[in-house]
Amino acid sequence: MSMTIEQARELMHEWTESPALRVHMECVAACMGAYASNLEPGETDRWIVAGLLHDFDYEKHPDASEHPTVGVAHLASLGVDEAIRAAILGHAPYTGVARESAMAKTLFAVDELSGFIVACAKVRPEGVETLQAKSVRKKLKDKSFAAAVSREDIAEGIEDMRGLVKPADDEAFASEHIQFCIDAIRAERERLGV
Ligand SMILES: [Fe+2]
Repeated sequence: MSMTIEQARELMHEWTESPALRVHMECVAACMGAYASNLEPGETDRWIVAGLLHDFDYEKHPDASEHPTVGVAHLASLGVDEAIRAAILGHAPYTGVARESAMAKTLFAVDELSGFIVACAKVRPEGVETLQAKSVRKKLKDKSFAAAVSREDIAEGIEDMRGLVKPADDEAFASEHIQFCIDAIRAERERLGV
């Protein structure tokens, strides 16, 4: 049995009241859907479900000893498949679960970056509408901006994605990945208010 996008969203809302955390999971899901369309088109819904649920237990169980393991155990009890559960565990490096599938690698690669893109959008009058990879990269170098976002995780994610997407121009890939995520989030801009 696989969970539908609607069921995943309902479950996420059940466990998460914070509007910001809901938007974060929606942004990650938007990036997951966009990448799935390119990398594993038949699996798009499952990639979106992984995005929608990757932090769904965080509000109730923020401690690293419980997030995301408590949520993943609940997903197992609901019959959510192993690949989605492994991807969710893998997005938290301290679980020790290796990111083996394209879904797992992509989830890790869009998670912190989505948070950072939303932080960049917040300080612009037009939000994500006119945001470009160039200004995101500039802000990444400013360590005082959105200091809680791990630059190391974003850099590691870029390397993961480089292996999956196989770009012609390596130098340009970081910007391509960032722009791809900006565009995916922008496509949902009105619904998410970013
Ligand atoms: Fe996240």
